[in-house]
Amino acid sequence: MDKRRPPRPALVVHGGAWAIPDTEWKAHRDGVRQAIEVGWAILRDNGSALDAVQATIAHLEDDPTFDAGLGSVLNREGRIEMDAALMDGRDLDVGAVACVNRVKNPIRLAREGLKSEHVLLVGDGAHRFAWERGLEPVDPSSLVVERERLRLAAHQEAPRSVDPREAFGHPPLDRPNGTVGAVAIDRGGNIAAGGSTGGTPAKRAGRVGDTPIPGAGLWADNRAGAAACTGWGEGILRVGLARTAVSHLRDAAAQDSAWLAIREMDSRIQGRAGVIVLSRDGSIGYAFNTPRMAVGYMDEEMAAPQVNGDPR
Ligand code: GLY
Repeated sequence: MDKRRPPRPALVVHGGAWAIPDTEWKAHRDGVRQAIEVGWAILRDNGSALDAVQATIAHLEDDPTFDAGLGSVLNREGRIEMDAALMDGRDLDVGAVACVNRVKNPIRLAREGLKSEHVLLVGDGAHRFAWERGLEPVDPSSLVVERERLRLAAHQEAPRSVDPREAFGHPPLDRPNGTVGAVAIDRGGNIAAGGSTGGTPAKRAGRVGDTPIPGAGLWADNRAGAAACTGWGEGILRVGLARTAVSHLRDAAAQDSAWLAIREMDSRIQGRAGVIVLSRDGSIGYAFNTPRMAVGYMDEEMAAPQVNGDPR
């Protein structure tokens, strides 16, 4: 007989892992806290983990602080190309999109993908699918913020060849990446993971990182737990960071699993990333080997969300 206690809802949210400067730290922490409140209201009121993760991420996409939705970074051709995914831990189903720029909330399109026969749609095919599903087309320029126009202009004036591993570790490369993501468990014990990103600044057109790739950027399995990643996507892809973290949940708590996965990536390929982890018993963990990570969590035993940097 399974003597585990009934599932307790929990939510973990991140807003990127990189050398977030002091001037942007508060906005990142405030944005993560508000997003937790949005997602937590759904879990608290017996909503599903999938709905909570989707709403949390949509909120972060609408906050221009983060590199997702409004405020996404520009590629080297001056365009936004966004990636997003949602994974349902009940049946390992995934809805994912890549290289989209005509929807306001890519995570909403990823949710539509969950109800389709495919896992990953890209570019114009993904846009046509969006219109079929009734999503409103937006002008890509409506997602571009001045901060990113200036950043690309500065990059084009003085192109820098920076090792991406270094970029995530040091402040000089202004803004490597503020990908957003969330993992949740609901009262039914159902688990979900999701992520959304504009990718890395001045990336090649057509570049896709870890965020929409199951096993790399996200993983959710009701039998174990969930993880969502942020950071240097190429490194996360090469080690399959999210699935690595969840696989450690067989023998370790969520916090240890997060650290083990980051350490393995670091020692094997010197990747730079952060990961959030949730186990099926509702234990929470996160780890990163970048200077900072915007991250927070909430469960039923807490009176308010805890965000990295809050007094304990
Ligand atoms: N981690 C997000 C990306 O590299 O695109």
